[in-house]
Amino acid sequence: MCGIFGYVGNRSNAAGLAVNGLKSLEYRGYDSWGVAWKEGSALGLRKETGKISGINPESLPACSLAIGHTRWATHGGVTAANAHPHLNEDRTIAVVHNGIIENYQELREELKAKGHVFLSETDTEVIPHLIEEYLKETDDFAHAVRLACQRFTGRYGILAVHTTSDTIVAARTGSPLIVGKAPDGFFIASDTPAFLEHTRTVQYLDDGEMVITNGKSIIFSDLKTGEEKLKREIEITWSIDEARKGDYAHFMLKEIMDQKESVARAVNQNEEEIIEVARAIENARGTFLVGCGTAHKACMAGEHFFSIVAGKHVNVAPASEFKLYHRFLRPESLLIAVSQSGETADVLEAIQVAKSKGAKVLAIVNSPGSSIARAADYTLLINAGPERAVASTKALTGQLAVLMLVAYALAGKLAEGKKLLLETASMINDMLNPRYADYLSRVADHIKAKEDLYIIGRSWNYPMALESAIKIQEVSYIHAEGFAGGELKHGPIALIEDGMPCIVLAGNDEVLPDILSNAVQLKARGGYVIGVAPERNEIFDEWIRVPDAGAAQPIVNIIPIQVLAYFLAVQRGKDPDMPRNLAKSVTVK
Ligand code: F6R
Repeated sequence: MCGIFGYVGNRSNAAGLAVNGLKSLEYRGYDSWGVAWKEGSALGLRKETGKISGINPESLPACSLAIGHTRWATHGGVTAANAHPHLNEDRTIAVVHNGIIENYQELREELKAKGHVFLSETDTEVIPHLIEEYLKETDDFAHAVRLACQRFTGRYGILAVHTTSDTIVAARTGSPLIVGKAPDGFFIASDTPAFLEHTRTVQYLDDGEMVITNGKSIIFSDLKTGEEKLKREIEITWSIDEARKGDYAHFMLKEIMDQKESVARAVNQNEEEIIEVARAIENARGTFLVGCGTAHKACMAGEHFFSIVAGKHVNVAPASEFKLYHRFLRPESLLIAVSQSGETADVLEAIQVAKSKGAKVLAIVNSPGSSIARAADYTLLINAGPERAVASTKALTGQLAVLMLVAYALAGKLAEGKKLLLETASMINDMLNPRYADYLSRVADHIKAKEDLYIIGRSWNYPMALESAIKIQEVSYIHAEGFAGGELKHGPIALIEDGMPCIVLAGNDEVLPDILSNAVQLKARGGYVIGVAPERNEIFDEWIRVPDAGAAQPIVNIIPIQVLAYFLAVQRGKDPDMPRNLAKSVTVK
């Protein structure tokens, strides 16, 4: 949530770089944006509501130091005054912030009593004012930032600048910050796509760390003690093209199409690592899978993979509920944390809970070097490449593929699992052809005016029914709900009306007769039954054909729903890449 960007160096277009960097971070928040830059001995500032997409980077003045922010509102509405950067009264200090300063009210009162005047409703605005207070005690700007940070409770990634120095000071506690080292300066941002076109050499800040850079050199230190730290440089392997939309109208469509290759990339794992992970699951006394939203649905499907493929019981919880599981945890427990971004606050909290009980953690993530990957004892990367659209698509199928692979390894059948998944990847390649997309666009056209839509599935298709609902809700704003097929008759069936679209997810599996009989129940109440299945059935009013993929059925069944959700959004005039109220990386609880 919220994207932050900073550059200092030899280039004279720092403010323009900030605008471009923020455009790449807009998936983290897009209700308002702002940039501050160093102009001689003053700070220039531009803040606006709405998306940054329209602004020409060259319209900003020449400068060699700038910081910027794209916002997902938490404290205070969407106004230019609440947009970052925030400044102190005499406009000598500017700050951008991602996260939440939990004790901001108390600090605000304290600062008000000292005469400070606030112009916004944000928690962030206390930061420049507090730094100003500490600058009365020290003339070292970085030290003043350090002292201010020691007063904050909550989570933050901040960048701060001052008119008297040509440095950016950054601090991290809970919200991601990554340094990009280029030959002509340093970048600091919430995520790597912000500077990927300038450098692939990165250094990750850990919690409780600070960075000071003047564009020529950089110093990492402990936020509390000031003790200097050495940081490893890491080369990012993601390509710039992967982070771009290319000829596609939207990132969501591009990322759906990327699945032609990304599922195969997910399968491309180091076998020894997979076997080591499988052994850890085998030896664990209690394995818990957690994730949020779409990743949680991958975990739910994972439960079925482990059960059906390996006969192994695992526990699943939304990461936001996991802290209540602390009573079940012990040093022999294993937490499997699934996340695309690797930065989700609820998942990080679950990891903390597990670690506090001495349990081990396996991360299944997309972002290499992310906080979750670094906090884990074992990490498996899903290799989906950058996912920019808010709605997760290729990350989900990558997560499913890796979970399946681990389940097969656990069953001692890794080669079989790998073969099945590679066959599935090739089926996805065949499936995602223009004719298929046209057909799904026509299905979308037929149902786009509906305000309600239901999806049912059983076994591993039940989590995919829940995921289908998320996908359709978040981009098209149709009220979509997923149910376990067998649960229909216990309540939800009362909602079914004549002509209501009802999607039925099916596979050639042990629950096929049951889900078909649920489809009959829907049809008998007037439901317009859209079957997603390898074989046509007379119950279906519409048949969306999918390959028969055995244990990989959930992977192939969700893909047409992703395409359908995309077309529903576009045909209803919505921007599928930036749905209202949402942000890609949810770094608040
Ligand atoms: C929905 C979606 C979200 C994320 C959730 C977790 O399309 O993208 O539900 O799945 O916010 O995010 P990660 O996977 O980054 O932890």
